[in-house]
Amino acid sequence: MTWDLGRIIVDENVDLPLDWASLSPSGRVFVEIGFGNGEFIEYLAQTFPEVLILGIEVSQWCVAKGARRVLAAGLGNVRIMHGDARFLLRHCFSPESVERVYMNFPCPWPKTRHASRRVTVPHFADLLSYLIVPGGSFELATDVDWYAEEAAETISAPGVFQADPIEADPKRPYITKYERKWRAMGKSTWHLVLHKTGKYDDPIMEGNCWQMEMECESPMKLEDVLSKIKDAEGKGVGGRGHWVFRETFVSDSGVGLVLVITTDDGFEQHFYLKVIPGRDGFKIKVDSVGHPYRTPAMRAALHYALEAARGE
Ligand SMILES: C[S@@+](CC[C@H](N)C(=O)[O-])C[C@H]1O[C@@H](n2cnc3c(N)ncnc32)[C@H](O)[C@@H]1O
Repeated sequence: MTWDLGRIIVDENVDLPLDWASLSPSGRVFVEIGFGNGEFIEYLAQTFPEVLILGIEVSQWCVAKGARRVLAAGLGNVRIMHGDARFLLRHCFSPESVERVYMNFPCPWPKTRHASRRVTVPHFADLLSYLIVPGGSFELATDVDWYAEEAAETISAPGVFQADPIEADPKRPYITKYERKWRAMGKSTWHLVLHKTGKYDDPIMEGNCWQMEMECESPMKLEDVLSKIKDAEGKGVGGRGHWVFRETFVSDSGVGLVLVITTDDGFEQHFYLKVIPGRDGFKIKVDSVGHPYRTPAMRAALHYALEAARGE
């Protein structure tokens, strides 16, 4: 059997943020972060057929598995995104556009050097304030008691969310694969619900210029443009993120290629920029093969290359 995974998995090469509510039968949107084998997504989509369910997973294997599960179940109200939720939730969603966010059994990252990856960091609390509609909620299930306590404290600290008391071994309407394994070993789980009672008043999406290619007139030679931009680096649009240019090549067809590395909120991308010579100048284009997301760092890198090619 062949699977039309493209119907379910969101193409990265789209204008962001997306209007998810327009794809939802009722305008309501729920998100699950780190869905693993996708069975909780299936449960949500069947229980709430009027809601658009978005699953975000960093593992490509889980993305394919989850998408096949959704197609096999014939569910039309699910979309899946591949990538790091910390980045995707910030850049692919409009402010206050999601009613519920679920997170079942995230890795607690117990080592101090990995602490920034925990959902208990203030940055994640800001992200939830940005994302969730007033009156919406964040639900966390975890196998680590201190993790639930830290999450309750950090996420409610800015005063936008209020935490319900943490429940130990609650009766849940659906038990995930990870939870089944954990309970089978006789171990406890903890469940935390935080309600958004305040308002987020610092929208961060600035500008709407997300072009993937731009042209400029220039008297320069391609080789001079490439040697000028090699090893250049800078900050992303709005001072967020970082980009750096690495190797440069000239292809057989005379197109310049520059390897670009960007990071945005810890989300790293590697892709190529094409510098295409024309009659009076250059076209600068993001090579779409790697399907990079149009992040603030990527946009700034593109603008830098354009100005360099212009001879400025
Ligand atoms: C312990 S598993 C739990 C899977 C599933 N929720 C369950 O309860 O069975 C954690 C999942 O989170 C995913 N994950 C970890 N960090 C992530 C991130 N930053 N963004 C999206 N998914 C992530 C992992 O790939 C993994 O599938």
